[in-house]
Amino acid sequence: MNDPTIILAGATGNLGGRIARALLERGASVRALVRHGTAPDRLERLEKRGATIAIVDFNSASQVAPACSGAACVVSALARLRDVIVETQTVLLEAAIKAGVPRFIPSDYSIDFTKFPPGENRNLDLRRDFHERLEKASISATTIFKGAFADMLTGQMPLILFKLKRVLYWGDADQRMDFTTIDDTAAFTASAALDPSTPRFLRIAGDQLSVRELRAVVSEVTGKEFHLLRAGGLGMLGTLIKVARTVAPGEKELYPAWQGMQYMRNMFDGRAKLEPLDNDRYPGIRWTTVRDVLSARQVSQCARPG
Ligand SMILES: NC(=O)c1ccc[n+]([C@@H]2O[C@H](COP(=O)([O-])OP(=O)(O)OC[C@H]3O[C@@H](n4cnc5c(N)ncnc54)[C@H](OP(=O)(O)O)[C@@H]3O)[C@@H](O)[C@H]2O)c1
Repeated sequence: MNDPTIILAGATGNLGGRIARALLERGASVRALVRHGTAPDRLERLEKRGATIAIVDFNSASQVAPACSGAACVVSALARLRDVIVETQTVLLEAAIKAGVPRFIPSDYSIDFTKFPPGENRNLDLRRDFHERLEKASISATTIFKGAFADMLTGQMPLILFKLKRVLYWGDADQRMDFTTIDDTAAFTASAALDPSTPRFLRIAGDQLSVRELRAVVSEVTGKEFHLLRAGGLGMLGTLIKVARTVAPGEKELYPAWQGMQYMRNMFDGRAKLEPLDNDRYPGIRWTTVRDVLSARQVSQCARPG
């Protein structure tokens, strides 16, 4: 198909904006579905890149459906809690079906939550709930699993404690984990959106390494000797999650501290490890390693004045 149209929900967000760019680079027409009230500067940025904007009422599938017409795939990069991941995505799904769109990519972009039971990770349980609806829908769906965003290793994810020169971990120092950058996830998602024959699940990882391997890489890149710091076993982490959820519930927040801890527990326990990988499915994607991410941080630190 020449110049296929891809519908993108969440295009004003971090991952979504990069998916839009990757789709446009691949020659697709991008129609970004946005809600009423989205900040105008976000819309301008998208339009400048070459996307078209459709402002829709995400409460009504019959109102969203016309904006989906003629598309080859609907891609969601929406983020929030049940209201969006289950309810808004359901409206988007129904709209895609009404409009006769053949394919749907939900906003999963996570570790493989099909490998562990419900109740262990609040945000991933929401995706699981949405999947129950997705499996019953008459549309071809593809989920992209990619571990954790590698970009978070230099900030949000409390694994590498740069100031203390420690790599913090729980459980087994030799358990490998999956890391993929946001840009690589976007590039792969764009290619998958344009591929008419994707399977139900695709698994990617820019890098797979244990904390022991991570310690060696961060030591080499920074030129400073980092050490491992074992905080405890996974049972202890489970107890801490319960305590954190009691003392600082933050149930309405997307990423309260205990949510990040749930994610870490799932990564450290190995069940959500991705295999086999589909990294080679699309030629032309150069996978960014954790060493690349840490080297880029090192360069930007060295460039800082003072
Ligand atoms: N595995 C990982 O390590 C990891 C880490 C972070 C994120 N993720 C996943 O990546 C995906 C994208 O996350 P992100 O960080 O890019 O999100 P983000 O930057 O917060 O963007 C969220 C997008 O959702 C839209 N949105 C939010 N609430 C909405 C609503 N009620 N109706 C319509 N649109 C709404 C926002 O639109 P507005 O501009 O109108 O607000 C925005 O476009 C999510 O699935 C997230 O869980 C994975």
